[in-house]
Amino acid sequence: MWQTEVLYHWPNRYCEPIENWAMQLRSLNWQEKVHYLNHYQCDRLSDDFQNHLQKTLQLIDLDQLSMQDEIALDHYRLTPKKRHERNHILNFLQQQQIQPCYFWDFAGGMGHLSRGLSKVLQTAGHCLDADENLITSAHDFANEQVEFEVQKIEDFDATRAKNNHLMVGLHCCGELTPQILQHFESSEASWLLSVGCCYFKDSSNYPLENEHISFHAKMLAAKGFRPVSVQDLQTREQVKTYRYYFEFWYREQFPHHPVTVLKSFLPHFYQGSFDQYFKECCRRLNLHPKDQPLLSELQQRYGDEFSRLISLGLLREIFSRPLEIYLTIQRALKLKSDFQIYQVFDRQISQRNLAIFSQKDGVPNDSSDWS
Ligand SMILES: C[S@@+](CC[C@H](N)C(=O)[O-])C[C@H]1O[C@@H](n2cnc3c(N)ncnc32)[C@H](O)[C@@H]1O
Repeated sequence: MWQTEVLYHWPNRYCEPIENWAMQLRSLNWQEKVHYLNHYQCDRLSDDFQNHLQKTLQLIDLDQLSMQDEIALDHYRLTPKKRHERNHILNFLQQQQIQPCYFWDFAGGMGHLSRGLSKVLQTAGHCLDADENLITSAHDFANEQVEFEVQKIEDFDATRAKNNHLMVGLHCCGELTPQILQHFESSEASWLLSVGCCYFKDSSNYPLENEHISFHAKMLAAKGFRPVSVQDLQTREQVKTYRYYFEFWYREQFPHHPVTVLKSFLPHFYQGSFDQYFKECCRRLNLHPKDQPLLSELQQRYGDEFSRLISLGLLREIFSRPLEIYLTIQRALKLKSDFQIYQVFDRQISQRNLAIFSQKDGVPNDSSDWS
C-alpha cells in the first residue's frame, strides 16, 4: 500500500488486515490519531495492529544525537532550524574527533555550515553551490578560510578531494545525495557526512536493483517524520475533503477517462469554497459540466468512502519513516567503507534528520558520545 497513494487505488479495496485496521482507525478521536502518528501507539487498537506498530517502532529505532550546547557562532540570516542543524552537525563532527585538512561543502547555499566548519574544525574549505546568486551573496559575508564557487554537484571533479579531506552535503535533494556518495567513493577523501532530503526528486531507481520504489513512496518517505498536531491533521483533512470529493464526482461522470488525480493547488483554493475549487479543477481538466454538484450531496453519497480513505491514509503514513531509513541504507550500502546512520537533528525542529557518516579504512577515529 505504501507504493501508491490511496486515492489512486480507489475504488479498489485492500487485502486484510489493511481494511480492518483502517476501520479501527476511524473510531479514534483527533488526539488519539495524533498520538498514533507521532508515537506509533494506541491502546484502543487490536493486538495484531499494535504488534505491527511495535515492530515498526523497532525498525525505526536509531541512535539519536542528544541535545547539544550551542557553539558560539554568528547567527546572521540564520533561521532557528538552520541554526539547530548547523550546531548539531558541528557537534557531531567534534565528537568524532576528526581532523580534516580541508572540507568540501556540497550545495552549501549561503555558506552558513561552511563558515561553522572552518571555525570549529579550524580548517579551510570550499562551499559549492549551483546557484550563482547564492554564491554571490555568500561572498558578502565571506571568511578568509572559505572559498565560494559556483559548481554543480554532478560536474564536480572528484580528484580535487584528497586524503584527509571531509565531504559534507546537508539536505541535498533527490539524486544529489547519491552523487555525493559516488564522489566520496571515487575520490581520496577520508570522511563523508551526508543528510538527504526530497527523495521524490530522484526519478532514477538508483541504488535499488531488483525492486522499484515509486514516486508516491518517495514522497511518503520525505514527508512523514515531523510530529503532527490536531490542527495539522484537521488542515490535511480539509484539503482531502476537496480533493477526494472532486475525484469521486469526476470518476462517476467520466468513468472512461484515464485517472487524473489533481494535486498541487495553492492553499487558498482549499480555504475558499468548494464551488471555486470545483471550477478550477474543471478548468485544469478542460471539462464543461452542465451542473455543478453540491459538496453536501457528494458527502451524502460518498461520505463512507471518504472516511475509509482518510483512515487508509493514516495507516499508510506509518510506512513513511521505515521507507526513508530503507532508502538511506540502500544508498549507503553502495559505499565500500563502513558507515553509520544517525538521527542528527531533533525531529520537532528538522524532520529530515538521517545522516550517513563514513570514514575510509586507515583513518584514525575516536569514539563518539551518543545518548
Ligand atoms: C535544500 S538546499 C540545501 C542548502 C544547504 N546545504 C543547507 O542545508 O542550508 C539545496 C541547495 O542545493 C543547491 N543545488 C540545487 N541543485 C544543485 C546542483 N545540481 N549542484 C549543486 N547545488 C545544487 C541549491 O542552490 C540549494 O542551495
